[in-house]
Amino acid sequence: MQQEIEIVDLRRLTEVIKNKYNYDFSNYAMSSFKRRVQRIIELYKFASVDALIRKLSEEPPFFREFLSEVTVNVTEMFRDPSFWREIRDHILPNILLNHSSVSIWHAGCSSGEEVFSMAILLKEMGILDKAKIVATDIDVDVLQKARSGTYPLKNMDINQKNYVRFQGNQSLDRYYREENGKAILDKSLVEGISFREHNLVSSAVFSKFDLILCRNVMIYFNQNLQNTVLKMFHESLFKYGYLIVGSKESLIWCEIANKFIVVNNEEKIYKKIKD
Ligand SMILES: C[S@@+](CC[C@H](N)C(=O)[O-])C[C@H]1O[C@@H](n2cnc3c(N)ncnc32)[C@H](O)[C@@H]1O
Repeated sequence: MQQEIEIVDLRRLTEVIKNKYNYDFSNYAMSSFKRRVQRIIELYKFASVDALIRKLSEEPPFFREFLSEVTVNVTEMFRDPSFWREIRDHILPNILLNHSSVSIWHAGCSSGEEVFSMAILLKEMGILDKAKIVATDIDVDVLQKARSGTYPLKNMDINQKNYVRFQGNQSLDRYYREENGKAILDKSLVEGISFREHNLVSSAVFSKFDLILCRNVMIYFNQNLQNTVLKMFHESLFKYGYLIVGSKESLIWCEIANKFIVVNNEEKIYKKIKD
């Protein structure tokens, strides 16, 4: 398809998806959403947005593929190593000053690399058994990958590089075994984690946490939706709990900014100080 996708096309597309599948993309940031839709049209060689809409209307199984393609799933272990050092050296010790355990929510966990980075870090601190970790995503395909704790071996190069920069205690390969070109993570890292399907757009508060990580997810939402989701995170945090967003994101502009203080501006770490 050569011609530009128009805003009206995207509106029709999001309407159909909302009515048929009850997923609401109308508050995703339009420019990146448009790029993703354009990509799907090229990938599947649809002649027009209408052809894509027809396929979605007539073939429910295709929606799962669409969902995987329209969301951006790029992730790495120990992405932004200095951030992980901050979690290890300051944030977790701070939480554990007043608590005997720590509850953590990874919202938008993709295929799990961020979650397993946390599990490795907790293991190296000797507190993995004190942690309750919930990891959620809208995309069931990436969740399946995460639950398997298995990655292509070739991906481990970048993960290892990040881990070295994070200054972990070991070598990353101590945490997995190699089999048929795959890296299979130690059971002890995978088994305690609860991976669940969850849509940040429509789901309500489901539990309370000491630490919420939602990194590189809200950049795909418009300000309206970011505000709504940030309110939900605020409600999902215990008082003095921490909220962490991605390196290109911030909380200082949002409606509930006054209920948080900035703990680390570089690493985008915020602490809830008001209910
Ligand atoms: C770029 S990945 C970020 C992964 C990880 N947090 C990181 O920073 O490496 C963004 C993830 O957000 C998920 N996502 C997008 N919209 C979502 C929504 N409405 N609810 C929950 N997850 C969503 C995508 O499926 C994708 O796995």
